[in-house]
Amino acid sequence: MRSLVVGGAGFIGSHLVDLLVQRGQVTVFDNLSIGREAFIAEPLRSGKATLVKGDALDLNALTKTAVGHDVVFHLAANPEARWGLERTRIDLDQGTIATYNALEAARLAQVPRFVFSSSGTVYGNNPEPCGEMDLGHLPFSLYGASKLAGESLIASYVECFGLKGYICRFGNVVGQRSTHGAILDFCKKLQAHPEYLDVLGDGRQAKPYLHVTDCAAGILFVLDNAKDALNVYNLAPPDTTSVRRIAELCVQASPHKSACVEYSGGPQGWPGDVPVSRIKPDKLENLGFRVRFTSDAAVELAVREVARQVFGTE
Ligand SMILES: NC(=O)c1ccc[n+]([C@@H]2O[C@H](COP(=O)([O-])OP(=O)(O)OC[C@H]3O[C@@H](n4cnc5c(N)ncnc54)[C@H](O)[C@@H]3O)[C@@H](O)[C@H]2O)c1
Repeated sequence: MRSLVVGGAGFIGSHLVDLLVQRGQVTVFDNLSIGREAFIAEPLRSGKATLVKGDALDLNALTKTAVGHDVVFHLAANPEARWGLERTRIDLDQGTIATYNALEAARLAQVPRFVFSSSGTVYGNNPEPCGEMDLGHLPFSLYGASKLAGESLIASYVECFGLKGYICRFGNVVGQRSTHGAILDFCKKLQAHPEYLDVLGDGRQAKPYLHVTDCAAGILFVLDNAKDALNVYNLAPPDTTSVRRIAELCVQASPHKSACVEYSGGPQGWPGDVPVSRIKPDKLENLGFRVRFTSDAAVELAVREVARQVFGTE
């Protein structure tokens, strides 16, 4: 299998590349804006992966790179939903347009399969457990809007051009090589000022956290086993973990165990942040895939991994 991973030097992408090199040659296309060559050092060294430094907004470069591949995994995006509050074009460009370019490159280069990293944010502000059909609440962040737009583009390319589409809606992904997210954020804050940890919201925000190894394995399971032209699957544990719990675990895993956790208050971290979300994994479980880690277990493991990354200790 010859795989092209757009955004493959990033957090999730690099874990996916680790698995893909066991199946054949891998091309990573990444502008290294967030991702790092070091994350894919071993696959590059082995000769099983090559890195093309390029931007997904450059359709020509992406199309040239896509020629000769069997599948495109599209993971490049703005990683932080919050950034859309200050830079209102970022999700349009790095989300919607980049996804259009990746699809168009796949069409022009005649790559038959397209895998997309979507998100539970497409379910909007809905505290009920959401299955794949529960799209009644529209997303309310620019990031979520770009994910839903990306999904619609994929459905259209599947219908109009005969591509096979695989959409995975992840929970919050955590683990080694994190480039962003609450755990990394909290550990970095503790490193910068060891006496206190300021947390946005009241700490009762709760979301499903997916370990990155489950994420990469789940994506490949969907690709291998989903048989429709357009395949949409949630990829997340059914339980949730609160921000308060994450903050406490980060303090305990840091060298600054007496740091005081201070909450800014209010139910939301920032405008567009979904305070409570739950994702139903039933459809993927019925296909035969179950995550190894519950949300709490994924967070506990990821806090240890990220603490090592930031503090060099546990
Ligand atoms: N991490 C999560 O919790 C989470 C949850 C749901 C969905 N997702 C989605 O999964 C995907 C991967 O997320 P991640 O956490 O690994 O983020 P990441 O930022 O670590 O990885 C994205 C990679 O894409 C690259 N990139 C960004 N813009 C690019 C461009 N224009 N051209 C080429 N490369 C570009 C970055 O350098 C980076 O290596 C994203 O689409 C993200 O929206 C992530």
